[in-house]
Amino acid sequence: MTATLVRSGLEGVVAAETRISGVDGQAGELVIAGFPVEELAEYATFEEVAYLLWKGELPDAQQKETFTRALAAHRALPEIALEALRAAASSEMPAMDALRMAADTLSLEREREEPSGFDGAALTLTASMPLLVAAYWRLCNGQEPLASRPDLGHVANYLYLLTGEEPTPERTRALETYLNTVVDHGLNASTFAARVIIATQSDLVSAVVGALGALKGPLHGGAPGPALDMVFEIGTAERAEPYLREKLERGERLMGFGHRIYKVRDPRADVLAKAAERLFQTDADQALYALAQHVEQTALRLLEEYKPGRHLKTNVEFYTALLLHGLDLPTELFTPTFAIGRVAGWIAHCFEQQRLDRIIRPQSVYVGEHHRQWVPVQAR
Ligand code: COA
Repeated sequence: MTATLVRSGLEGVVAAETRISGVDGQAGELVIAGFPVEELAEYATFEEVAYLLWKGELPDAQQKETFTRALAAHRALPEIALEALRAAASSEMPAMDALRMAADTLSLEREREEPSGFDGAALTLTASMPLLVAAYWRLCNGQEPLASRPDLGHVANYLYLLTGEEPTPERTRALETYLNTVVDHGLNASTFAARVIIATQSDLVSAVVGALGALKGPLHGGAPGPALDMVFEIGTAERAEPYLREKLERGERLMGFGHRIYKVRDPRADVLAKAAERLFQTDADQALYALAQHVEQTALRLLEEYKPGRHLKTNVEFYTALLLHGLDLPTELFTPTFAIGRVAGWIAHCFEQQRLDRIIRPQSVYVGEHHRQWVPVQAR
């Protein structure tokens, strides 16, 4: 056997059948448990989407109420989680590292009796993610974490915990749309990591902690708003073309464009562009939105000129950055906020993998030496 058999990065390898989400990169379609992302993201609450992914159907009114209450009932962090966050804040750790460390402590909550009939660990993990992120952010800024508001939904409560102010329905809707849009995306790296871990009959907390570790990397979820930085650096519409041309002449990549799977415009970009447009009310916001649109159009034209035939289109990052910025989230919280959405997808995949009950164990090809002989340390 030779190394040429290996598909680098497992590209093109089909490793799972799933009902959670499907990505068609040629058609530019993302389907989430049967719903086109455009159909679901703008209308559903995050709780409804989590229920859909975990149960396979949208909840009816009664089920929605029960599930929303069950999730809200899990909004309490163990004291040790806050201690971990305090230690992380005092050593100025990146937010994703703090989140991963503190998420590990949620194992302590797993034994709690769960009368709702939903998996207790799944509820704890999903409910706690916004609490951990908001608590960390406040500690980093010299503020004490706030107590959750039981009267607020999952997403509104996250915004409240960050700012201490009850968010407007428009702001809640915008963030809810974002979280629904990124809740799942096929067998991406963090989801695969979660499935590998749970497939050993390990537990949900371990799977989610592993997934957080995978999400942190810059090739997955860890690029902290570089597309937004680019729009800010450009500053005015006239500067867009010379700026982008110079980057392309230097062989640099334009952030927010191109995708391994999508060869047409990423459907999530459209959903988020519309959500951002609705959110942006002030003149300053609208000017930024208009500038971003101009930058996008110019970039697409220049990418076609410099990289003809590569099908480099707008990806999810471009309008994510704009939307989260419009919600006053700092770039440091972009990836942790992505995790707040994606955790429901990770858990749904774990449930699917548990039903399959089969360990994931691919093979490797040994390409090292053979027949080496032991040499005592004195003789090496
Ligand atoms: N700007 C300019 N050129 C780009 C580009 C971009 N954003 N993305 C890809 N290209 C070019 C490459 O330089 C390469 O050119 P070549 O054929 O002359 O060598 C060609 O397009 C194919 O690139 P490749 O690296 O094979 O594509 P990929 O599928 O491996 O890469 C990404 C996908 C997302 C990593 C890549 O498009 C990228 O780096 N985009 C910018 C970062 C970004 O927005 N990341 C968020 C993704 S959601």
